[in-house]
Amino acid sequence: MKITAVMGSPTKDGNTCVLAREVLKGASDLGAQVEEIFLADYKIEYCKGCISRGIKDMCMSTGRCIINDDVNLLKDKLYKSDGIILATPSYGIMETARMKNFLIDRIGMYTVYTSRLAGKYFVGVSTCGGIGAKTVAKKMAEHFISGFHKRAFMSGYIGLKIGNERIENKTSHLKKAYKLGNKLFKDIDSKKKYPFQKVGDRLITLLLVRRIILNNIYKNKDGSMKAVYEDLANRNLIR
Ligand SMILES: Cc1cc2nc3c(=O)[nH]c(=O)nc-3n(C[C@H](O)[C@H](O)[C@H](O)COP(=O)(O)O)c2cc1C
Repeated sequence: MKITAVMGSPTKDGNTCVLAREVLKGASDLGAQVEEIFLADYKIEYCKGCISRGIKDMCMSTGRCIINDDVNLLKDKLYKSDGIILATPSYGIMETARMKNFLIDRIGMYTVYTSRLAGKYFVGVSTCGGIGAKTVAKKMAEHFISGFHKRAFMSGYIGLKIGNERIENKTSHLKKAYKLGNKLFKDIDSKKKYPFQKVGDRLITLLLVRRIILNNIYKNKDGSMKAVYEDLANRNLIR
């Protein structure tokens, strides 16, 4: 079992990363193989918006982003993970720009169209000075639950107000994070299903949105949607 933590904080030893490492520890102590991706250590440019500009070799047709940076490598790491921890401080009750750029813009469209993070178990982690961490942690953890073709699962989230203190001094918070790591491991191990998570959104996706997405994929399966179509067909998620 592989669990990867994506750290969107600019501070490697800041409150958010320390908290997320405790979740990782809870999983690794039960036997998971764990890895940390500290986004600030990698070269990650901004999305060039090929999709809306009709550029030929875009991710949807080739499966790879045309930008020559670290995103394709990081994307593969997530695709190979069973569990993913998304950790970010709360900036204005949102994830950091670095996390949004990586998770939504850069790995987003191809990954979402192919439901490549489906079947995986997510945990959200966030800290804040005063307000917003719970909202941010939950939003991160829920992000891939209503997939176009297949869904992901949320094992849980932890969002904590830290004020000006250090998380290392808050033993009860660290214990909570550790237990969440235990839970993540057990959910993956037992393939827990969480049938009611975002059930309304999932129904709308299934009944309305999926049809539009499928039409687009079939119509362009030999061109702009070639890689998306082949990926889904290889995984038996499309005919
Ligand atoms: C640009 C910026 C925006 C922030 N916005 C908020 C906010 O809206 N609400 C809040 O309570 N804390 C806010 N904070 C404080 C951080 O969320 C908080 O200090 C967090 O614990 C930092 O995590 P880190 O140690 O992992 O960097 C902000 C900090 C920065 C740098």
